[in-house]
Amino acid sequence: MAKKFHNFINGEWVDAESGETFENRNPANWNELIGTFPKSDKEDVEHAVEAAVAQRDAWANLPVPKRGQILGRAGDIMVKRKEEIAKLMTREMGKILKETRGDTQEGIDTAYYAFGEARRLYGVTSTSELTNKATYTIIKPIGTAGIISPWNFPMAIPCWKIFPALLMGNTIVFKPASDTPATATKFVEILNEAGVPKGVVNLVHGPGSTVGEAILKHPDIGVISFTGSSAVGRRIAEVAGKNLKRVSLELGGKNPQIVMPDADIELAIEGVLWGAFGTTGQRCTATSRLILHGDIYDEFMDILIKRTKDLRVGDGLLESSDVGPIINESQLKIILNYVDIGKQEGAKLLLGGKRLTGGKYDNGFFMEPTIFTEVEPGMRIEQEEIFGPVLSVIRIFDFEEAIAVANDIEYGLSSSIYTNNILYAMKAIDKLEAGITYINAPTIGAECHMPFGGFKNTGNGHREGGKWPYEVFGEIKTVYIDYSGKLQKAQIDTEITK
Ligand code: UN1
Repeated sequence: MAKKFHNFINGEWVDAESGETFENRNPANWNELIGTFPKSDKEDVEHAVEAAVAQRDAWANLPVPKRGQILGRAGDIMVKRKEEIAKLMTREMGKILKETRGDTQEGIDTAYYAFGEARRLYGVTSTSELTNKATYTIIKPIGTAGIISPWNFPMAIPCWKIFPALLMGNTIVFKPASDTPATATKFVEILNEAGVPKGVVNLVHGPGSTVGEAILKHPDIGVISFTGSSAVGRRIAEVAGKNLKRVSLELGGKNPQIVMPDADIELAIEGVLWGAFGTTGQRCTATSRLILHGDIYDEFMDILIKRTKDLRVGDGLLESSDVGPIINESQLKIILNYVDIGKQEGAKLLLGGKRLTGGKYDNGFFMEPTIFTEVEPGMRIEQEEIFGPVLSVIRIFDFEEAIAVANDIEYGLSSSIYTNNILYAMKAIDKLEAGITYINAPTIGAECHMPFGGFKNTGNGHREGGKWPYEVFGEIKTVYIDYSGKLQKAQIDTEITK
């Protein structure tokens, strides 16, 4: 019988109030039921928020290094269980084991970063404009954070959000994506085992339309951190805006890799293969546009096609697979629909474009790595986030054109240029409208201690990674201490008199 999973509210593993459940299945083998999960709604969120609010003071009153110790311990447990987590993640999300190990490692790195940050939460000390007066800042928790995470990085992204939120002294209501609830459950188990007190982290499974909405609208949730589509991000920002709730959004991407004629071609090919087809293209940072210089176009494309054909699509649990399945059937349909759109728009489908069927593919959602050429700037397949293994190739003839094409999109998450010309590299760093620019490396592969996020419609100006999310989850308080013993007036008593 399939395992029955639960919500985690106030330290107890519980069913949804309604008793309803939903299924979680393996996208490489839909016959495999990983488990059933509570299909929660507003009432369950209400209980979770109650627990989170009740624990606020106790958690916030723990010294920050003490909280850090608990989070460091969670990192230690994740190290011990890395293989077990990776296998579970591959079963429910599909990406190959090498990548789910990497995803888990990103979570571990983030835990240890939080452990270190606990002794580094520096404020600002400055001088006052008045005599016998001191000023400095401290940082306080916001209260309760709502965490809504996607399925493509089932461990890393919850860790990016929850470790900083906890270290800052917030309590949590966590709604993971319905496609990857098992990894999220494992994460909460680990936090619990590491010593996070009951009620501090509450897990509520279920759909965005009920659980997500209830979190979004709840007056006792002071900050929301969301990673996902721009459409949902917009909705969150609208509702949260009405209530002046703080929101950190990490949304779509349409990331370009530019290749100039002076580039190391073999390196650039390895980069685009990994960037476009790693995680089956299901990363916000995936390379979905190859902006290729005309002088090397034919040579480059010949090799790229051969190498793409060599990629082995299969079950991510097999070490022999390079590319795993698509997360679910509806996502596969969306991607195949984009293939039709590309053909209708007049782009040339050079490789792939179809669902894989027969034998080992029959029970899963596998798709051929797909390459479109003759893609023109402005086509939908060049502008819209597809979130699948589809690469659009755009031929350009000079550097300025490459930058203009790269920038002519609504998103601005990641970007890359392959060149050995320092002038192109430096200008690209300056001009590419993206939160991340890689030189001679693919658009994927961000490290946990550096800021992660994008320009334009990729987000709302916040960054994850490194010290930046700590500001998202904190309220800064400025302190003034006047030890002059008299009323001093800022801006007024400061006048310079001869
Ligand atoms: C995402 O695609 O949502 O840089 C996150 C990368 C990973 C994180 C991606 N470290 O590709």
